[in-house]
Amino acid sequence: MTFPTVRMRRLRRSEGLRRLTRETRLSRDDLVLPLFAVEGTGVREAVASMPGVHRFSADQIAEEAKAVADLGIPAVILFGIPAEKDARGSGADADGGIVQRAVEAAKSAAPELCVITDVCLCEYTDHGHCGLVSGDTVENDPTLDRLADTAVSHARAGADVVAPSDMMDGRVDAIRRALDAADFPDVPILSYAAKYTSAFYGPFRDAAESAPAFGDRRGYQMDPANRREALRELELDLEEGADILMVKPAMPCLDVLADARRMFDVPLAAYQVSGEYSMLMAAAERGWIDRSRALMESLIAIRRAGADFILTYAAKEIAPRLKP
Ligand code: PBG
Repeated sequence: MTFPTVRMRRLRRSEGLRRLTRETRLSRDDLVLPLFAVEGTGVREAVASMPGVHRFSADQIAEEAKAVADLGIPAVILFGIPAEKDARGSGADADGGIVQRAVEAAKSAAPELCVITDVCLCEYTDHGHCGLVSGDTVENDPTLDRLADTAVSHARAGADVVAPSDMMDGRVDAIRRALDAADFPDVPILSYAAKYTSAFYGPFRDAAESAPAFGDRRGYQMDPANRREALRELELDLEEGADILMVKPAMPCLDVLADARRMFDVPLAAYQVSGEYSMLMAAAERGWIDRSRALMESLIAIRRAGADFILTYAAKEIAPRLKP
Protein backbone atom coordinates (compact mmCIF):
# COMPACT_ATOMS: atom_id res chain seq x y z
CA MET A 1 0.00 0.00 0.00
CA THR A 2 1.23 3.40 -0.85
CA PHE A 3 0.09 6.94 -1.61
CA PRO A 4 -2.70 8.04 -1.87
CA THR A 5 -3.99 5.29 0.49
CA VAL A 6 -1.08 5.79 2.80
CA ARG A 7 -0.81 9.31 4.12
CA MET A 8 1.83 9.78 6.82
CA ARG A 9 0.47 13.23 7.62
CA ARG A 10 -2.76 11.72 9.05
CA LEU A 11 -1.11 11.11 12.40
CA ARG A 12 0.45 14.56 12.53
CA ARG A 13 -2.80 16.47 12.30
CA SER A 14 -3.36 17.34 15.93
CA GLU A 15 -1.41 17.66 19.11
CA GLY A 16 -3.43 14.80 20.60
CA LEU A 17 -2.42 12.45 17.79
CA ARG A 18 1.16 13.63 17.91
CA ARG A 19 1.26 12.99 21.64
CA LEU A 20 -0.16 9.49 21.25
CA THR A 21 2.31 8.50 18.56
CA ARG A 22 5.42 10.15 20.00
CA GLU A 23 8.21 7.58 20.29
CA THR A 24 10.67 9.34 22.56
CA ARG A 25 10.02 11.34 25.69
CA LEU A 26 12.15 13.52 27.86
CA SER A 27 11.31 13.93 31.50
CA ARG A 28 12.92 15.52 34.52
CA ASP A 29 14.00 12.03 35.50
CA ASP A 30 16.40 12.00 32.56
CA LEU A 31 18.49 14.99 33.63
CA VAL A 32 21.74 15.41 35.54
CA LEU A 33 23.13 18.90 36.17
CA PRO A 34 26.92 19.39 36.29
CA LEU A 35 28.12 21.77 39.03
CA PHE A 36 31.56 23.34 39.55
CA ALA A 37 32.81 23.76 43.12
CA VAL A 38 35.43 26.37 44.07
CA GLU A 39 37.03 27.56 47.32
CA GLY A 40 35.62 30.36 49.43
CA THR A 41 32.22 31.33 50.77
CA GLY A 42 29.41 33.17 49.08
CA VAL A 43 31.02 32.63 45.68
CA ARG A 44 28.77 32.40 42.63
CA GLU A 45 30.86 33.41 39.66
CA ALA A 46 29.59 33.24 36.10
CA VAL A 47 31.58 31.17 33.57
CA ALA A 48 32.07 33.53 30.64
CA SER A 49 32.04 30.89 27.93
CA MET A 50 28.97 29.12 29.32
CA PRO A 51 26.02 31.50 29.75
CA GLY A 52 23.90 30.49 32.75
CA VAL A 53 26.65 28.35 34.32
CA HIS A 54 28.40 29.34 37.56
CA ARG A 55 31.17 28.21 39.84
CA PHE A 56 29.98 27.87 43.41
CA SER A 57 31.65 27.73 46.81
CA ALA A 58 30.46 24.84 49.00
CA ASP A 59 27.82 26.92 50.82
CA GLN A 60 26.37 27.97 47.45
CA ILE A 61 26.52 24.38 46.20
CA ALA A 62 24.16 23.64 49.08
CA GLU A 63 21.71 26.32 47.89
CA GLU A 64 21.99 25.14 44.33
CA ALA A 65 21.48 21.49 45.32
CA LYS A 66 18.26 22.45 47.07
CA ALA A 67 17.04 24.40 44.04
CA VAL A 68 17.89 21.50 41.72
CA ALA A 69 16.05 19.00 43.93
CA ASP A 70 13.04 21.34 44.14
CA LEU A 71 12.90 21.38 40.35
CA GLY A 72 12.54 17.60 40.38
CA ILE A 73 15.96 16.90 38.85
CA PRO A 74 17.22 13.61 40.32
CA ALA A 75 20.97 14.15 40.23
CA VAL A 76 23.98 16.45 39.95
CA ILE A 77 27.58 15.68 39.02
CA LEU A 78 30.25 17.62 40.89
CA PHE A 79 33.58 18.90 39.60
CA GLY A 80 36.10 20.45 41.96
CA ILE A 81 38.45 23.30 41.16
CA PRO A 82 41.07 23.48 43.90
CA ALA A 83 43.02 26.64 44.82
CA GLU A 84 46.29 24.74 44.51
CA LYS A 85 47.54 22.18 42.04
CA ASP A 86 50.59 19.94 41.98
CA ALA A 87 52.13 17.20 39.84
CA ARG A 88 50.26 14.29 41.49
CA GLY A 89 46.95 16.08 41.87
CA SER A 90 47.05 15.85 45.67
CA GLY A 91 43.84 17.84 45.99
CA ALA A 92 41.82 15.13 44.28
CA ASP A 93 41.74 12.79 47.28
CA ALA A 94 42.48 15.29 50.05
CA ASP A 95 40.44 15.00 53.23
CA GLY A 96 38.29 18.09 53.26
CA GLY A 97 39.19 18.74 49.61
CA ILE A 98 37.03 20.93 47.46
CA VAL A 99 34.81 18.24 45.99
CA GLN A 100 34.58 16.34 49.27
CA ARG A 101 33.23 19.46 50.99
CA ALA A 102 30.87 20.13 48.10
CA VAL A 103 29.47 16.59 48.36
CA GLU A 104 28.84 17.04 52.07
CA ALA A 105 27.18 20.41 51.49
CA ALA A 106 24.96 19.07 48.71
CA LYS A 107 23.93 15.95 50.62
CA SER A 108 23.10 17.79 53.80
CA ALA A 109 21.07 20.43 51.96
CA ALA A 110 19.24 17.94 49.74
CA PRO A 111 19.57 14.37 51.06
CA GLU A 112 17.27 12.98 48.35
CA LEU A 113 19.42 14.40 45.54
CA CYS A 114 21.73 11.83 43.93
CA VAL A 115 25.25 13.24 44.06
CA ILE A 116 27.66 11.92 41.45
CA THR A 117 31.33 12.94 41.50
CA ASP A 118 33.64 13.19 38.52
CA VAL A 119 36.78 11.19 39.30
CA CYS A 120 39.76 12.60 37.41
CA LEU A 121 43.07 14.28 38.13
CA CYS A 122 43.08 16.98 35.45
CA GLU A 123 41.52 19.71 37.59
CA TYR A 124 44.07 18.98 40.33
CA THR A 125 47.34 18.56 38.43
CA ASP A 126 49.58 21.54 37.60
CA HIS A 127 50.24 20.04 34.15
CA GLY A 128 46.50 19.61 33.52
CA HIS A 129 46.67 15.99 32.37
CA CYS A 130 44.27 13.32 33.63
CA GLY A 131 47.06 11.09 34.93
CA LEU A 132 50.56 11.15 36.40
CA VAL A 133 53.14 12.41 33.97
CA SER A 134 56.71 11.34 33.45
CA GLY A 135 58.61 13.24 30.77
CA ASP A 136 55.95 13.85 28.20
CA THR A 137 54.00 10.63 28.70
CA VAL A 138 50.89 10.27 30.77
CA GLU A 139 51.52 7.08 32.75
CA ASN A 140 48.70 4.57 32.89
CA ASP A 141 49.33 2.09 35.70
CA PRO A 142 50.79 4.48 38.30
CA THR A 143 47.69 6.66 37.83
CA LEU A 144 45.29 3.89 38.84
CA ASP A 145 46.04 4.12 42.56
CA ARG A 146 45.49 7.88 42.51
CA LEU A 147 42.12 7.44 40.83
CA ALA A 148 41.11 4.66 43.21
CA ASP A 149 42.08 6.77 46.24
CA THR A 150 40.11 9.67 44.80
CA ALA A 151 37.00 7.56 44.28
CA VAL A 152 37.21 6.20 47.82
CA SER A 153 37.59 9.67 49.29
CA HIS A 154 34.51 10.81 47.35
CA ALA A 155 32.56 7.84 48.68
CA ARG A 156 33.73 8.61 52.19
CA ALA A 157 32.45 12.18 51.78
CA GLY A 158 29.05 10.77 50.85
CA ALA A 159 29.03 10.55 47.05
CA ASP A 160 26.20 8.33 45.80
CA VAL A 161 27.95 7.45 42.52
CA VAL A 162 31.53 7.89 41.29
CA ALA A 163 32.22 8.68 37.65
CA PRO A 164 35.76 8.15 36.32
CA SER A 165 36.45 10.35 33.28
CA ASP A 166 40.20 9.94 32.79
CA MET A 167 40.24 7.16 30.15
CA MET A 168 43.15 5.25 31.71
CA ASP A 169 43.01 1.50 31.03
CA GLY A 170 41.91 -0.62 33.98
CA ARG A 171 40.59 2.19 36.12
CA VAL A 172 37.09 0.81 36.58
CA ASP A 173 38.57 -2.40 37.94
CA ALA A 174 40.97 -0.50 40.22
CA ILE A 175 38.17 1.72 41.53
CA ARG A 176 35.76 -1.19 42.08
CA ARG A 177 38.34 -3.12 44.10
CA ALA A 178 39.27 -0.06 46.15
CA LEU A 179 35.64 0.80 46.91
CA ASP A 180 34.92 -2.78 47.96
CA ALA A 181 38.04 -2.93 50.13
CA ALA A 182 37.09 0.36 51.81
CA ASP A 183 33.64 -0.99 52.61
CA PHE A 184 31.74 0.83 49.87
CA PRO A 185 30.46 -2.16 47.91
CA ASP A 186 27.17 -0.37 47.23
CA VAL A 187 28.60 2.72 45.54
CA PRO A 188 28.02 2.35 41.79
CA ILE A 189 30.47 3.35 39.06
CA LEU A 190 29.26 5.44 36.16
CA SER A 191 32.05 5.04 33.65
CA TYR A 192 32.87 7.62 31.00
CA ALA A 193 33.56 4.53 28.90
CA ALA A 194 33.60 5.92 25.39
CA LYS A 195 35.07 9.37 25.77
CA TYR A 196 36.48 10.99 22.68
CA THR A 197 39.17 13.60 22.23
CA SER A 198 36.95 16.55 21.46
CA ALA A 199 37.15 20.23 20.66
CA PHE A 200 33.76 20.51 22.33
CA TYR A 201 35.33 20.34 25.82
CA GLY A 202 36.83 23.82 25.31
CA PRO A 203 34.50 25.86 27.54
CA PHE A 204 34.69 23.23 30.32
CA ARG A 205 38.45 23.57 30.46
CA ASP A 206 37.93 27.30 30.95
CA ALA A 207 35.46 26.67 33.74
CA ALA A 208 37.55 23.96 35.40
CA GLU A 209 40.99 25.43 34.60
CA SER A 210 42.00 22.03 33.34
CA ALA A 211 43.53 22.62 29.91
CA PRO A 212 46.70 20.53 29.52
CA ALA A 213 49.88 22.62 29.88
CA PHE A 214 51.59 20.63 27.12
CA GLY A 215 50.40 18.29 24.40
CA ASP A 216 46.82 17.10 24.26
CA ARG A 217 44.72 14.16 25.41
CA ARG A 218 44.94 12.05 22.26
CA GLY A 219 47.14 9.49 24.01
CA TYR A 220 44.25 8.44 26.25
CA GLN A 221 40.94 9.79 24.93
CA MET A 222 39.48 8.15 21.83
CA ASP A 223 39.94 9.19 18.23
CA PRO A 224 36.64 10.68 16.96
CA ALA A 225 37.08 8.66 13.77
CA ASN A 226 36.47 5.37 15.61
CA ARG A 227 33.14 3.69 16.12
CA ARG A 228 33.91 -0.01 16.68
CA GLU A 229 36.57 0.87 19.21
CA ALA A 230 33.92 2.57 21.35
CA LEU A 231 32.01 -0.69 21.66
CA ARG A 232 35.15 -2.41 22.85
CA GLU A 233 35.73 0.33 25.43
CA LEU A 234 32.16 -0.03 26.66
CA GLU A 235 32.42 -3.80 26.85
CA LEU A 236 35.71 -3.71 28.77
CA ASP A 237 34.36 -1.26 31.33
CA LEU A 238 31.31 -3.43 31.81
CA GLU A 239 33.54 -6.45 32.40
CA GLU A 240 35.59 -4.43 34.88
CA GLY A 241 32.46 -3.72 36.86
CA ALA A 242 30.92 -0.49 35.59
CA ASP A 243 27.25 -0.14 36.55
CA ILE A 244 26.38 2.60 34.08
CA LEU A 245 28.10 3.35 30.78
CA MET A 246 28.51 6.80 29.32
CA VAL A 247 29.25 8.13 25.85
CA LYS A 248 30.77 11.58 25.53
CA PRO A 249 30.34 14.01 23.79
CA ALA A 250 26.68 13.39 22.91
CA MET A 251 25.54 15.02 19.67
CA PRO A 252 28.71 14.19 17.71
CA CYS A 253 28.32 10.54 18.87
CA LEU A 254 24.69 9.66 18.24
CA ASP A 255 25.76 6.66 16.16
CA VAL A 256 27.84 5.35 19.06
CA LEU A 257 24.92 5.81 21.44
CA ALA A 258 22.66 3.89 19.10
CA ASP A 259 25.19 1.05 18.81
CA ALA A 260 25.65 0.99 22.57
CA ARG A 261 21.90 0.84 23.15
CA ARG A 262 21.63 -2.18 20.88
CA MET A 263 24.57 -4.00 22.42
CA PHE A 264 24.28 -3.44 26.17
CA ASP A 265 21.41 -3.88 28.60
CA VAL A 266 22.77 -1.56 31.25
CA PRO A 267 21.79 2.04 31.88
CA LEU A 268 23.33 4.31 29.30
CA ALA A 269 24.23 7.95 29.87
CA ALA A 270 25.31 10.69 27.49
CA TYR A 271 27.09 13.93 28.26
CA GLN A 272 25.93 17.00 26.36
CA VAL A 273 29.27 18.70 26.89
CA SER A 274 30.22 22.31 27.40
CA GLY A 275 30.89 23.06 23.73
CA GLU A 276 27.58 21.58 22.63
CA TYR A 277 25.82 23.77 25.19
CA SER A 278 27.82 26.93 24.46
CA MET A 279 27.32 26.55 20.73
CA LEU A 280 23.55 26.56 21.22
CA MET A 281 23.74 29.49 23.65
CA ALA A 282 25.94 31.54 21.32
CA ALA A 283 23.70 31.02 18.31
CA ALA A 284 20.63 31.82 20.40
CA GLU A 285 22.22 35.03 21.74
CA ARG A 286 22.68 36.14 18.16
CA GLY A 287 19.09 35.36 17.40
CA TRP A 288 20.09 32.69 14.91
CA ILE A 289 18.20 29.86 16.59
CA ASP A 290 15.41 29.55 19.11
CA ARG A 291 17.20 28.68 22.35
CA SER A 292 14.56 26.67 24.02
CA ARG A 293 13.44 24.70 20.97
CA ALA A 294 17.02 23.95 19.98
CA LEU A 295 17.85 22.75 23.48
CA MET A 296 14.80 20.52 23.58
CA GLU A 297 15.49 19.09 20.13
CA SER A 298 19.11 18.32 21.00
CA LEU A 299 18.10 16.50 24.19
CA ILE A 300 15.36 14.51 22.47
CA ALA A 301 17.83 13.50 19.76
CA ILE A 302 20.22 12.18 22.40
CA ARG A 303 17.41 10.20 24.04
CA ARG A 304 16.20 8.93 20.66
CA ALA A 305 19.70 7.65 19.88
CA GLY A 306 19.54 5.54 23.04
CA ALA A 307 20.61 7.45 26.15
CA ASP A 308 18.60 6.75 29.30
CA PHE A 309 19.75 9.98 30.88
CA ILE A 310 21.71 13.07 29.94
CA LEU A 311 24.25 15.22 31.73
CA THR A 312 23.42 18.72 30.58
CA TYR A 313 24.17 22.28 31.66
CA ALA A 314 20.63 23.12 30.56
CA ALA A 315 18.95 20.86 33.13
CA LYS A 316 17.61 23.70 35.28
CA GLU A 317 16.32 25.66 32.32
CA ILE A 318 14.61 22.65 30.75
CA ALA A 319 13.18 20.94 33.86
CA PRO A 320 10.24 23.30 34.46
CA ARG A 321 9.03 22.62 30.91
CA LEU A 322 8.98 18.84 31.38
CA LYS A 323 6.66 16.44 33.13
CA PRO A 324 7.92 15.50 36.58
C1 PBG B 1 37.67 15.69 33.13
C2 PBG B 1 36.45 15.99 32.34
C3 PBG B 1 36.30 16.79 31.19
C4 PBG B 1 34.94 16.85 30.93
C5 PBG B 1 34.31 16.08 31.90
N1 PBG B 1 35.26 15.55 32.74
C6 PBG B 1 37.30 17.53 30.42
C7 PBG B 1 38.28 16.84 29.56
O1 PBG B 1 38.33 15.61 29.46
O2 PBG B 1 39.07 17.56 28.99
C8 PBG B 1 34.29 17.64 29.84
C9 PBG B 1 32.93 18.15 30.15
C10 PBG B 1 32.45 19.23 29.26
O3 PBG B 1 33.08 19.66 28.28
O4 PBG B 1 31.34 19.72 29.54
N2 PBG B 1 38.54 14.82 32.56
